[in-house]
Amino acid sequence: MAKSRIQFICQNCGSVHTRWAGKCDACGEWNTLVEEGTSGGIGSGPSSLRTSRKGRPVALTSLAGEIEDAPRIASGISELDRATGGGFVRGSALLVGGDPGIGKSTLLTQAAAALARRGNRIVYVSGEEAVAQIRLRAQRLGAADSTVELAAETNVEDILATIADGRRPDLVIIDSIQTLWTDAADSAPGTVTQVRAAAQALIRYAKSTGAAIVLVGHVTKEGQIAGPRVVEHMVDAVLYFEGEGGHHHRILRTVKNRFGPTDEIGVFEMSDKGLREVSNPSELFLGERHAAAPGAAVFAGMEGTRPVLVEIQSLVAPTSLGTPRRAVVGWDSPRLAMVLAVLEAHCGVRFGQHDVYLNVAGGYRIAEPAADLAVAAALVSSLTGLALPADCVYFGEISLSGAIRPVAHAQQRLKEAEKLGFGQAVLPRGSEELGSGNDSRAFQPATLADLVVRIAGSLRRDTDD
Ligand code: TYD
Ligand code: MG
Repeated sequence: MAKSRIQFICQNCGSVHTRWAGKCDACGEWNTLVEEGTSGGIGSGPSSLRTSRKGRPVALTSLAGEIEDAPRIASGISELDRATGGGFVRGSALLVGGDPGIGKSTLLTQAAAALARRGNRIVYVSGEEAVAQIRLRAQRLGAADSTVELAAETNVEDILATIADGRRPDLVIIDSIQTLWTDAADSAPGTVTQVRAAAQALIRYAKSTGAAIVLVGHVTKEGQIAGPRVVEHMVDAVLYFEGEGGHHHRILRTVKNRFGPTDEIGVFEMSDKGLREVSNPSELFLGERHAAAPGAAVFAGMEGTRPVLVEIQSLVAPTSLGTPRRAVVGWDSPRLAMVLAVLEAHCGVRFGQHDVYLNVAGGYRIAEPAADLAVAAALVSSLTGLALPADCVYFGEISLSGAIRPVAHAQQRLKEAEKLGFGQAVLPRGSEELGSGNDSRAFQPATLADLVVRIAGSLRRDTDD
Protein backbone atom coordinates (compact mmCIF):
# COMPACT_ATOMS: atom_id res chain seq x y z
CA MET A 1 0.00 0.00 0.00
CA ALA A 2 1.22 3.47 -0.79
CA LYS A 3 2.54 5.29 2.24
CA SER A 4 0.22 8.14 3.16
CA ARG A 5 2.09 11.34 3.90
CA ILE A 6 0.71 14.27 5.85
CA GLN A 7 0.20 17.48 3.93
CA PHE A 8 -1.60 20.76 4.43
CA ILE A 9 -4.24 21.85 1.98
CA CYS A 10 -5.66 25.36 1.73
CA GLN A 11 -9.43 25.10 2.14
CA ASN A 12 -9.86 28.22 0.10
CA CYS A 13 -7.83 27.60 -3.06
CA GLY A 14 -6.86 23.96 -2.70
CA SER A 15 -3.10 24.51 -2.96
CA VAL A 16 -0.93 21.93 -1.21
CA HIS A 17 1.72 22.85 1.36
CA THR A 18 4.24 20.58 3.02
CA ARG A 19 4.14 22.41 6.34
CA TRP A 20 1.54 24.39 8.23
CA ALA A 21 1.52 28.17 8.03
CA GLY A 22 -0.89 30.83 9.22
CA LYS A 23 -1.32 32.24 5.74
CA CYS A 24 -1.68 30.48 2.41
CA ASP A 25 1.10 31.62 0.05
CA ALA A 26 -1.02 30.90 -3.00
CA CYS A 27 -4.17 32.89 -2.28
CA GLY A 28 -3.18 35.01 0.73
CA GLU A 29 -6.05 33.79 2.95
CA TRP A 30 -5.40 33.35 6.67
CA ASN A 31 -6.10 30.25 8.72
CA THR A 32 -7.18 28.12 5.80
CA LEU A 33 -4.52 25.39 5.89
CA VAL A 34 -5.83 22.09 7.18
CA GLU A 35 -3.92 18.87 7.70
CA GLU A 36 -5.07 16.14 5.34
CA GLY A 37 -3.77 12.73 4.33
CA THR A 38 -2.48 12.35 0.77
CA SER A 39 -4.16 9.10 -0.12
CA GLY A 40 -7.30 9.44 -2.20
CA GLY A 41 -6.64 13.05 -3.04
CA ILE A 42 -6.99 14.40 -6.51
CA GLY A 43 -4.11 13.56 -8.79
CA SER A 44 -3.38 10.35 -6.99
CA GLY A 45 -5.93 8.52 -9.14
CA PRO A 46 -7.58 5.22 -8.37
CA SER A 47 -5.23 3.12 -6.27
CA SER A 48 -5.18 0.23 -8.73
CA LEU A 49 -3.64 2.52 -11.33
CA ARG A 50 -0.72 3.44 -9.15
CA THR A 51 0.92 0.08 -9.64
CA SER A 52 3.03 0.22 -12.77
CA ARG A 53 0.82 -0.89 -15.63
CA LYS A 54 1.44 -0.90 -19.32
CA GLY A 55 -0.55 1.77 -21.18
CA ARG A 56 -3.32 0.71 -23.50
CA PRO A 57 -3.57 2.62 -26.80
CA VAL A 58 -6.84 4.46 -27.41
CA ALA A 59 -8.28 5.17 -30.86
CA LEU A 60 -7.54 8.68 -32.13
CA THR A 61 -10.21 10.39 -34.18
CA SER A 62 -10.84 13.60 -36.13
CA LEU A 63 -12.66 16.80 -35.19
CA ALA A 64 -15.17 16.34 -37.99
CA GLY A 65 -17.73 13.62 -37.59
CA GLU A 66 -21.13 12.71 -36.30
CA ILE A 67 -22.34 14.97 -33.51
CA GLU A 68 -25.23 14.11 -31.32
CA ASP A 69 -27.17 16.79 -29.52
CA ALA A 70 -26.65 16.55 -25.80
CA PRO A 71 -29.62 14.48 -24.61
CA ARG A 72 -31.49 16.54 -22.04
CA ILE A 73 -34.20 16.07 -19.51
CA ALA A 74 -36.26 19.21 -19.20
CA SER A 75 -38.10 19.94 -15.97
CA GLY A 76 -40.83 22.10 -17.46
CA ILE A 77 -39.88 24.85 -14.98
CA SER A 78 -38.89 27.22 -17.74
CA GLU A 79 -36.72 29.56 -15.66
CA LEU A 80 -34.66 26.56 -14.54
CA ASP A 81 -34.50 25.06 -18.02
CA ARG A 82 -33.38 28.41 -19.38
CA ALA A 83 -30.49 28.60 -16.90
CA THR A 84 -29.36 25.04 -17.64
CA GLY A 85 -29.58 25.68 -21.38
CA GLY A 86 -32.61 23.50 -22.02
CA GLY A 87 -32.62 20.95 -19.23
CA PHE A 88 -30.24 18.68 -17.33
CA VAL A 89 -27.84 16.90 -19.67
CA ARG A 90 -27.65 13.14 -19.27
CA GLY A 91 -24.27 11.91 -18.12
CA SER A 92 -23.22 15.33 -16.87
CA ALA A 93 -22.60 16.86 -13.48
CA LEU A 94 -24.00 20.21 -12.44
CA LEU A 95 -23.09 22.25 -9.38
CA VAL A 96 -25.68 24.51 -7.75
CA GLY A 97 -23.98 26.95 -5.39
CA GLY A 98 -25.46 29.57 -3.12
CA ASP A 99 -25.71 30.99 0.39
CA PRO A 100 -27.23 28.77 3.05
CA GLY A 101 -30.98 29.38 3.25
CA ILE A 102 -31.28 30.94 -0.18
CA GLY A 103 -33.54 28.14 -1.46
CA LYS A 104 -31.32 25.57 -3.18
CA SER A 105 -33.06 22.61 -1.57
CA THR A 106 -36.44 24.16 -2.34
CA LEU A 107 -35.56 24.68 -6.00
CA LEU A 108 -34.21 21.17 -6.40
CA THR A 109 -37.14 19.57 -4.59
CA GLN A 110 -39.49 21.36 -6.98
CA ALA A 111 -37.37 20.35 -9.96
CA ALA A 112 -37.23 16.75 -8.73
CA ALA A 113 -41.00 16.60 -8.35
CA ALA A 114 -41.59 18.15 -11.78
CA LEU A 115 -39.19 15.69 -13.43
CA ALA A 116 -40.64 12.70 -11.59
CA ARG A 117 -44.13 13.67 -12.78
CA ARG A 118 -42.79 13.45 -16.32
CA GLY A 119 -41.87 9.84 -15.75
CA ASN A 120 -38.19 10.17 -14.85
CA ARG A 121 -36.59 8.26 -12.01
CA ILE A 122 -35.24 10.86 -9.59
CA VAL A 123 -33.19 10.15 -6.49
CA TYR A 124 -32.77 12.88 -3.89
CA VAL A 125 -29.99 12.25 -1.38
CA SER A 126 -29.77 14.64 1.53
CA GLY A 127 -26.82 14.72 3.87
CA GLU A 128 -28.09 17.75 5.73
CA GLU A 129 -31.67 17.10 6.63
CA ALA A 130 -33.57 14.17 8.03
CA VAL A 131 -36.17 12.45 5.88
CA ALA A 132 -38.97 13.98 7.98
CA GLN A 133 -37.71 17.50 7.30
CA ILE A 134 -37.54 16.87 3.58
CA ARG A 135 -41.05 15.42 3.61
CA LEU A 136 -42.30 18.48 5.43
CA ARG A 137 -40.82 20.73 2.76
CA ALA A 138 -42.20 18.54 -0.02
CA GLN A 139 -45.67 18.81 1.53
CA ARG A 140 -45.39 22.56 1.64
CA LEU A 141 -44.36 22.59 -2.01
CA GLY A 142 -47.17 20.28 -3.03
CA ALA A 143 -44.59 17.74 -4.18
CA ALA A 144 -45.30 14.99 -1.69
CA ASP A 145 -47.34 12.95 -4.18
CA SER A 146 -44.50 12.62 -6.70
CA THR A 147 -42.39 9.49 -7.09
CA VAL A 148 -39.07 11.06 -6.04
CA GLU A 149 -36.96 8.52 -4.15
CA LEU A 150 -35.46 9.90 -1.00
CA ALA A 151 -32.48 8.99 1.18
CA ALA A 152 -30.61 10.67 4.01
CA GLU A 153 -27.04 9.50 3.57
CA THR A 154 -23.54 10.94 3.50
CA ASN A 155 -21.24 8.08 2.49
CA VAL A 156 -20.43 8.10 -1.21
CA GLU A 157 -19.94 4.34 -1.49
CA ASP A 158 -23.31 3.72 0.16
CA ILE A 159 -24.98 6.27 -2.11
CA LEU A 160 -23.49 4.69 -5.22
CA ALA A 161 -24.51 1.21 -4.09
CA THR A 162 -28.04 2.47 -3.42
CA ILE A 163 -28.58 4.10 -6.79
CA ALA A 164 -26.99 1.19 -8.65
CA ASP A 165 -29.97 -0.84 -7.47
CA GLY A 166 -32.88 -1.05 -9.91
CA ARG A 167 -33.50 1.10 -12.98
CA ARG A 168 -30.78 3.67 -13.68
CA PRO A 169 -31.90 7.02 -12.27
CA ASP A 170 -32.34 9.87 -14.73
CA LEU A 171 -31.25 12.42 -12.17
CA VAL A 172 -29.47 12.13 -8.82
CA ILE A 173 -29.50 15.17 -6.54
CA ILE A 174 -26.86 15.37 -3.80
CA ASP A 175 -27.65 17.94 -1.11
CA SER A 176 -24.92 18.91 -0.28
CA ILE A 177 -21.43 18.06 -1.47
CA GLN A 178 -19.89 19.38 1.78
CA THR A 179 -21.54 16.69 3.86
CA LEU A 180 -20.23 13.79 1.78
CA TRP A 181 -17.36 11.55 2.71
CA THR A 182 -15.74 8.65 0.97
CA ASP A 183 -13.74 5.72 2.32
CA ALA A 184 -11.09 6.50 -0.28
CA ALA A 185 -9.87 9.61 1.55
CA ASP A 186 -9.01 9.82 5.21
CA SER A 187 -9.64 13.50 5.89
CA ALA A 188 -12.68 14.83 7.72
CA PRO A 189 -15.92 15.49 5.77
CA GLY A 190 -16.07 18.99 4.32
CA THR A 191 -12.34 19.23 3.69
CA VAL A 192 -11.04 19.85 0.20
CA THR A 193 -9.72 16.32 -0.18
CA GLN A 194 -13.04 14.73 0.80
CA VAL A 195 -15.11 17.06 -1.33
CA ARG A 196 -12.91 16.45 -4.36
CA ALA A 197 -12.77 12.71 -3.93
CA ALA A 198 -16.52 12.47 -3.37
CA ALA A 199 -17.28 14.70 -6.35
CA GLN A 200 -14.89 12.71 -8.51
CA ALA A 201 -16.59 9.44 -7.62
CA LEU A 202 -20.04 10.86 -8.37
CA ILE A 203 -18.95 12.47 -11.63
CA ARG A 204 -17.37 9.18 -12.70
CA TYR A 205 -20.70 7.51 -11.93
CA ALA A 206 -22.57 10.06 -14.05
CA LYS A 207 -20.22 9.70 -17.03
CA SER A 208 -20.25 5.91 -16.95
CA THR A 209 -23.99 5.41 -16.52
CA GLY A 210 -25.47 8.42 -18.31
CA ALA A 211 -27.41 9.61 -15.27
CA ALA A 212 -27.40 13.37 -14.68
CA ILE A 213 -26.08 14.45 -11.33
CA VAL A 214 -26.70 17.67 -9.41
CA LEU A 215 -24.37 18.64 -6.58
CA VAL A 216 -25.45 21.32 -4.13
CA GLY A 217 -22.71 23.46 -2.57
CA HIS A 218 -22.90 26.13 0.09
CA VAL A 219 -21.06 29.37 -0.36
CA THR A 220 -19.46 30.78 2.75
CA LYS A 221 -20.10 34.35 3.81
CA GLU A 222 -16.97 35.69 2.10
CA GLY A 223 -18.39 34.57 -1.22
CA GLN A 224 -16.02 31.66 -1.58
CA ILE A 225 -17.45 28.23 -1.78
CA ALA A 226 -15.34 26.28 0.64
CA GLY A 227 -15.23 22.99 -1.10
CA PRO A 228 -17.48 23.57 -4.10
CA ARG A 229 -15.09 26.10 -5.60
CA VAL A 230 -12.55 23.30 -5.87
CA VAL A 231 -14.99 21.13 -7.81
CA GLU A 232 -16.06 23.90 -10.21
CA HIS A 233 -13.52 22.76 -12.79
CA MET A 234 -14.59 19.13 -12.48
CA VAL A 235 -18.27 19.59 -13.20
CA ASP A 236 -19.84 20.38 -16.58
CA ALA A 237 -21.97 23.28 -15.44
CA VAL A 238 -22.07 25.66 -12.49
CA LEU A 239 -25.17 27.58 -11.47
CA TYR A 240 -25.35 30.09 -8.66
CA PHE A 241 -28.53 30.76 -6.80
CA GLU A 242 -28.46 34.30 -5.49
CA GLY A 243 -30.70 36.75 -3.74
CA GLU A 244 -30.60 39.57 -1.24
CA GLY A 245 -31.82 39.18 2.30
CA GLY A 246 -35.11 41.04 2.62
CA HIS A 247 -35.98 40.59 -1.04
CA HIS A 248 -38.11 37.71 -2.17
CA HIS A 249 -36.72 37.25 -5.62
CA ARG A 250 -33.94 34.81 -6.42
CA ILE A 251 -31.72 34.66 -9.47
CA LEU A 252 -30.31 31.46 -10.87
CA ARG A 253 -27.19 32.48 -12.75
CA THR A 254 -25.16 30.28 -15.11
CA VAL A 255 -21.45 30.67 -14.41
CA LYS A 256 -20.12 27.78 -16.46
CA ASN A 257 -21.85 25.54 -18.96
CA ARG A 258 -20.16 23.05 -21.26
CA PHE A 259 -23.46 22.43 -23.05
CA GLY A 260 -24.98 25.86 -23.39
CA PRO A 261 -24.70 29.62 -22.93
CA THR A 262 -23.25 31.05 -19.71
CA ASP A 263 -24.97 34.40 -19.58
CA GLU A 264 -28.51 33.22 -18.92
CA ILE A 265 -30.45 33.85 -15.74
CA GLY A 266 -33.58 32.33 -14.32
CA VAL A 267 -35.66 34.52 -12.03
CA PHE A 268 -37.82 33.20 -9.20
CA GLU A 269 -39.78 34.62 -6.33
CA MET A 270 -39.83 32.85 -2.94
CA SER A 271 -43.36 32.46 -1.66
CA ASP A 272 -44.89 30.46 1.16
CA LYS A 273 -45.47 27.66 -1.32
CA GLY A 274 -41.95 27.56 -2.67
CA LEU A 275 -40.34 29.23 -5.65
CA ARG A 276 -42.54 30.84 -8.25
CA GLU A 277 -41.24 31.57 -11.73
CA VAL A 278 -40.95 35.20 -12.75
CA SER A 279 -41.19 35.37 -16.51
CA ASN A 280 -41.01 39.15 -16.74
CA PRO A 281 -38.19 40.25 -14.42
CA SER A 282 -38.38 43.91 -15.44
CA GLU A 283 -41.76 44.27 -13.77
CA LEU A 284 -40.26 42.84 -10.60
CA PHE A 285 -37.28 45.18 -10.52
CA LEU A 286 -39.29 48.25 -11.41
CA GLY A 287 -42.18 47.30 -9.14
CA GLU A 288 -41.64 49.72 -6.27
CA ARG A 289 -40.46 52.61 -8.37
CA HIS A 290 -40.88 56.16 -7.15
CA ALA A 291 -40.35 57.91 -10.44
CA ALA A 292 -40.42 61.56 -9.43
CA ALA A 293 -37.42 61.41 -7.09
CA PRO A 294 -34.08 62.77 -8.31
CA GLY A 295 -31.21 60.29 -8.49
CA ALA A 296 -33.05 57.43 -10.16
CA ALA A 297 -32.46 56.25 -13.73
CA VAL A 298 -33.82 53.18 -15.46
CA PHE A 299 -31.20 51.03 -17.13
CA ALA A 300 -32.20 48.85 -20.07
CA GLY A 301 -29.90 45.88 -19.56
CA MET A 302 -29.47 42.45 -21.07
CA GLU A 303 -29.13 39.12 -19.34
CA GLY A 304 -28.13 36.62 -21.94
CA THR A 305 -30.83 36.72 -24.55
CA ARG A 306 -33.28 38.55 -22.36
CA PRO A 307 -33.67 42.29 -21.77
CA VAL A 308 -34.09 43.35 -18.14
CA LEU A 309 -35.06 46.83 -17.04
CA VAL A 310 -33.81 47.85 -13.64
CA GLU A 311 -33.69 51.08 -11.68
CA ILE A 312 -30.36 52.55 -10.63
CA GLN A 313 -30.54 54.83 -7.61
CA SER A 314 -27.91 57.23 -6.46
CA LEU A 315 -27.56 59.65 -3.59
CA VAL A 316 -24.99 62.41 -3.80
CA ALA A 317 -24.80 64.24 -0.47
CA PRO A 318 -22.41 66.89 0.91
CA THR A 319 -19.74 65.26 3.03
CA SER A 320 -18.18 66.16 6.33
CA LEU A 321 -15.30 63.76 5.79
CA GLY A 322 -11.87 64.57 4.40
CA THR A 323 -12.13 61.65 2.03
CA PRO A 324 -15.69 61.42 0.75
CA ARG A 325 -17.42 58.04 0.85
CA ARG A 326 -18.23 56.01 -2.22
CA ALA A 327 -20.48 53.04 -1.56
CA VAL A 328 -21.93 50.74 -4.21
CA VAL A 329 -24.45 47.92 -4.00
CA GLY A 330 -25.10 45.80 -7.08
CA TRP A 331 -22.42 47.28 -9.30
CA ASP A 332 -18.65 47.49 -9.60
CA SER A 333 -16.96 50.09 -7.40
CA PRO A 334 -13.97 50.66 -9.74
CA ARG A 335 -16.52 51.26 -12.49
CA LEU A 336 -18.26 53.92 -10.36
CA ALA A 337 -14.89 55.57 -9.69
CA MET A 338 -14.33 55.67 -13.44
CA VAL A 339 -17.69 57.26 -14.22
CA LEU A 340 -17.10 59.86 -11.47
CA ALA A 341 -13.65 60.63 -12.88
CA VAL A 342 -15.03 61.09 -16.41
CA LEU A 343 -17.80 63.36 -15.10
CA GLU A 344 -15.21 65.46 -13.26
CA ALA A 345 -12.61 65.59 -16.01
CA HIS A 346 -14.76 66.02 -19.11
CA CYS A 347 -18.07 67.44 -17.92
CA GLY A 348 -17.02 69.80 -15.12
CA VAL A 349 -19.23 68.05 -12.58
CA ARG A 350 -17.50 68.01 -9.17
CA PHE A 351 -18.02 65.30 -6.58
CA GLY A 352 -14.98 66.08 -4.38
CA GLN A 353 -17.12 67.52 -1.58
CA HIS A 354 -19.81 64.87 -1.80
CA ASP A 355 -20.42 61.35 -0.60
CA VAL A 356 -21.71 59.12 -3.38
CA TYR A 357 -23.99 56.13 -2.80
CA LEU A 358 -25.15 53.92 -5.62
CA ASN A 359 -27.71 51.16 -5.41
CA VAL A 360 -29.25 48.85 -7.95
CA ALA A 361 -32.90 48.37 -7.02
CA GLY A 362 -34.35 45.05 -5.95
CA GLY A 363 -31.01 43.56 -4.90
CA TYR A 364 -30.17 42.94 -8.53
CA ARG A 365 -26.53 42.81 -9.67
CA ILE A 366 -25.34 44.36 -12.93
CA ALA A 367 -22.21 43.19 -14.72
CA GLU A 368 -22.62 45.07 -18.00
CA PRO A 369 -20.56 48.18 -18.85
CA ALA A 370 -23.67 49.36 -20.71
CA ALA A 371 -24.96 50.59 -17.34
CA ASP A 372 -22.40 53.46 -17.34
CA LEU A 373 -24.77 55.92 -18.94
CA ALA A 374 -27.65 55.19 -16.56
CA VAL A 375 -25.27 55.52 -13.60
CA ALA A 376 -23.95 58.85 -14.88
CA ALA A 377 -27.50 60.13 -15.41
CA ALA A 378 -28.52 59.06 -11.90
CA LEU A 379 -25.45 60.75 -10.38
CA VAL A 380 -25.97 64.04 -12.19
CA SER A 381 -29.68 63.93 -11.36
CA SER A 382 -29.00 63.46 -7.66
CA LEU A 383 -26.28 66.11 -7.53
CA THR A 384 -28.45 68.71 -9.24
CA GLY A 385 -31.66 67.62 -7.49
CA LEU A 386 -33.40 67.32 -10.85
CA ALA A 387 -35.57 64.26 -11.40
CA LEU A 388 -35.04 62.53 -14.73
CA PRO A 389 -38.03 61.99 -17.01
CA ALA A 390 -40.01 59.07 -15.58
CA ASP A 391 -40.53 57.37 -18.93
CA CYS A 392 -36.91 57.35 -20.09
CA VAL A 393 -34.42 54.45 -20.22
CA TYR A 394 -30.62 54.74 -20.46
CA PHE A 395 -27.91 52.48 -21.79
CA GLY A 396 -24.42 52.96 -23.23
CA GLU A 397 -20.81 52.50 -22.28
CA ILE A 398 -18.69 55.51 -21.32
CA SER A 399 -15.08 55.59 -22.43
CA LEU A 400 -12.35 57.39 -20.48
CA SER A 401 -12.32 60.14 -23.10
CA GLY A 402 -15.92 60.96 -22.26
CA ALA A 403 -17.29 59.51 -25.50
CA ILE A 404 -20.33 57.27 -25.39
CA ARG A 405 -19.76 53.94 -27.05
CA PRO A 406 -22.34 51.71 -28.66
CA VAL A 407 -23.41 48.48 -27.00
CA ALA A 408 -24.99 45.36 -28.40
CA HIS A 409 -28.72 44.55 -28.63
CA ALA A 410 -29.93 48.17 -28.77
CA GLN A 411 -33.05 47.14 -30.63
CA GLN A 412 -34.04 44.50 -28.07
CA ARG A 413 -33.48 46.87 -25.15
CA LEU A 414 -35.66 49.52 -26.78
CA LYS A 415 -38.39 47.02 -27.53
CA GLU A 416 -38.56 45.87 -23.93
CA ALA A 417 -38.64 49.50 -22.76
CA GLU A 418 -41.46 50.28 -25.13
CA LYS A 419 -43.39 47.23 -23.96
CA LEU A 420 -43.21 48.49 -20.38
CA GLY A 421 -44.41 51.97 -21.29
CA PHE A 422 -41.12 53.85 -21.56
CA GLY A 423 -41.45 56.38 -24.36
CA GLN A 424 -37.96 57.90 -24.33
CA ALA A 425 -34.46 56.55 -24.49
CA VAL A 426 -30.93 57.87 -24.15
CA LEU A 427 -28.54 55.63 -26.05
CA PRO A 428 -25.24 55.76 -27.93
CA ARG A 429 -24.88 56.87 -31.51
CA GLY A 430 -24.11 54.21 -34.04
CA SER A 431 -26.25 51.62 -32.32
CA GLU A 432 -27.82 49.18 -34.74
CA GLU A 433 -30.43 50.68 -37.04
CA LEU A 434 -33.33 51.89 -34.96
CA GLY A 435 -36.80 51.10 -36.14
CA SER A 436 -38.77 54.01 -37.54
CA GLY A 437 -40.75 55.87 -34.91
CA ASN A 438 -38.05 55.25 -32.34
CA ASP A 439 -35.87 58.09 -33.54
CA SER A 440 -38.08 60.97 -32.39
CA ARG A 441 -38.02 59.95 -28.73
CA ALA A 442 -34.41 58.76 -28.72
CA PHE A 443 -31.60 61.07 -27.65
CA GLN A 444 -28.20 59.94 -28.88
CA PRO A 445 -25.43 61.99 -27.28
CA ALA A 446 -21.92 61.68 -28.71
CA THR A 447 -20.28 62.49 -25.41
CA LEU A 448 -21.22 62.39 -21.75
CA ALA A 449 -21.00 66.17 -21.63
CA ASP A 450 -23.95 66.35 -24.06
CA LEU A 451 -26.07 64.32 -21.65
CA VAL A 452 -25.03 66.47 -18.67
CA VAL A 453 -25.98 69.60 -20.61
CA ARG A 454 -29.35 68.09 -21.43
CA ILE A 455 -30.07 67.15 -17.79
CA ALA A 456 -28.88 70.53 -16.50
CA GLY A 457 -30.84 72.16 -19.33
CA SER A 458 -34.06 70.98 -17.73
CA LEU A 459 -33.13 73.14 -14.71
CA ARG A 460 -32.79 76.18 -16.90
CA ARG A 461 -36.17 75.44 -18.47
CA ASP A 462 -37.74 75.02 -15.01
CA THR A 463 -36.41 78.33 -13.68
CA ASP A 464 -37.43 80.16 -16.87
CA ASP A 465 -41.04 79.18 -16.33
P1 TYD B 1 -33.78 26.05 1.54
O1 TYD B 1 -34.23 25.51 0.25
O2 TYD B 1 -33.76 25.13 2.70
O3 TYD B 1 -32.34 26.74 1.40
P2 TYD B 1 -30.91 26.10 1.13
O4 TYD B 1 -31.11 24.69 0.73
O5 TYD B 1 -30.33 26.95 0.04
O6 TYD B 1 -30.14 26.24 2.38
O7 TYD B 1 -34.70 27.31 1.82
C1 TYD B 1 -34.74 27.84 3.07
C2 TYD B 1 -35.52 29.12 3.14
O8 TYD B 1 -36.57 29.24 2.23
C3 TYD B 1 -36.10 29.20 4.52
O9 TYD B 1 -35.67 30.40 5.10
C4 TYD B 1 -37.56 29.15 4.33
C5 TYD B 1 -37.77 29.59 2.91
N1 TYD B 1 -38.92 28.93 2.29
C6 TYD B 1 -40.02 29.68 1.92
O10 TYD B 1 -40.08 30.89 2.14
N2 TYD B 1 -41.09 29.06 1.31
C7 TYD B 1 -41.09 27.74 1.05
O11 TYD B 1 -42.07 27.22 0.49
C8 TYD B 1 -39.93 26.96 1.44
C9 TYD B 1 -39.90 25.48 1.19
C10 TYD B 1 -38.88 27.60 2.03
MG1 MG C 1 -30.55 23.00 1.80
